[in-house]
Amino acid sequence: MQQTQIAGGHRLGFQTLEQERSLDAVPIEGVLPTWLAGSLLRNGPAKFEVGEHSYRHWFDGLAMLHRFSFAHGAVSYANRFLASRAYRAAREQDAIAYSEFATDPCRSLFKRVATAFSPPAFGDNANVNLTRLGDEFVAMTETPLPVVFEPRTLQTVGVAEPAPGQLTVAHPHRSPKTGELVSYATHFGPYTTYRVYAQRTRGERRMIAKLPVSRPAYMHSFAITERYVVLVEFPFVVVPVAIPLSGRPFIENFQWRPQRGTRFRVIELATGKLRGTYESEPFFAFHHVNAFEREAELIIDLCAYDDAGIVHALYLDHLRQEHPVLPDPELRRCRLRLDGTSVGCEPLADVGLELPRIDYRSRNGRPYRYVYGAGHRDGGDFLDQLVKVDVERGETSVWSESGTYPGEPVFVSEPGAADEDAGVLLSVVLDAAAGSSFLLVLGASDLTELARARVPHHIPFGFHGQFATEL
Ligand SMILES: [Fe+2]
Repeated sequence: MQQTQIAGGHRLGFQTLEQERSLDAVPIEGVLPTWLAGSLLRNGPAKFEVGEHSYRHWFDGLAMLHRFSFAHGAVSYANRFLASRAYRAAREQDAIAYSEFATDPCRSLFKRVATAFSPPAFGDNANVNLTRLGDEFVAMTETPLPVVFEPRTLQTVGVAEPAPGQLTVAHPHRSPKTGELVSYATHFGPYTTYRVYAQRTRGERRMIAKLPVSRPAYMHSFAITERYVVLVEFPFVVVPVAIPLSGRPFIENFQWRPQRGTRFRVIELATGKLRGTYESEPFFAFHHVNAFEREAELIIDLCAYDDAGIVHALYLDHLRQEHPVLPDPELRRCRLRLDGTSVGCEPLADVGLELPRIDYRSRNGRPYRYVYGAGHRDGGDFLDQLVKVDVERGETSVWSESGTYPGEPVFVSEPGAADEDAGVLLSVVLDAAAGSSFLLVLGASDLTELARARVPHHIPFGFHGQFATEL
């Protein structure tokens, strides 16, 4: 299909969507696989202004949930704001009431000191990811307040059990061995610690490890294998006592300290013991792809940047430029010998990708072959292609269409199929010329289009989603 390229068309993806809809049938072009049944649930920011104030960073916007459901070759859709306390307060006060990643509400110094590090200071604008914890669906961000929602109606239920710290990740893992949900939080205090924990349901938390740390790193995700959790401490660090009085939004307290190198903290899942700390050249990443054990080595794949400049590149005033310059992530493999002290890293492909996904159900923490993600073409304004990399052979394939901007491709495996890439990729794509978005369904083996289902509005660029076969 011929599309019109609009200069800066990506900017629509950073515009507020107010409309909440529930559509029983979305028009489909193409044919969906008959085996595809279930729901894609997605999370992301959708409202970037409140009253006269604007959020400053892509990570700050108020969370909206989206659901695309597949049954008998048809697609239904719903979207709804997450009714977090941050959202309700914004609506009621017509002002930004809670701190976000890079936006602070106006507060007096007294109020800042009084509320720093106490739970009410944290917002619950859980706009990054979602997961299943026991029977509940939970939306998550990096503050310790996950929010439970009802996955069919997308109605908000309420705040779930807080994480054991003030800074956490929206990328928990399933333990490949036990199936428990494993995550970590940074607990700031006189003795700051990384706290690694596991749980199956709400209220059944088990602490695995508490690691002292004097300069905690900003880590958006971590690695897991069958026996280990690996916290990869990029040298983007903070002095804990400086945060409450700095007067700066949260992330602006972190500083790039490349002389520290990147430290890989390897923790035994079974005992909580620190197996070792290993060091590589400095770099930064948001997303881990996968990790696994191979004889005496740990293999850790991630989407790496030379430095933490990407955090600054994602401020909205930069992203809304006609041609924002974004650093290109490198798909990087780091090899860590457990009997050594250093880590060697190398690129896995000559094409960059972000928002990586794998066949998580069968390959998480284990050897794997395929990663899927969103990348940008040379000269592209934003993420404007989908990429598949065969990490064993370094071969890549791409899908792109002029004037469109695809998001994270979620892999759904075909039931009963043996090949790792037998299945589909589901990606929400912004069509700038049409002023709307569609759900793209690609065959995962060759990235050919099977179908697309268009909704009547644009969907602001989101972060992460999960496919639930049971919905
Ligand atoms: Fe993420």
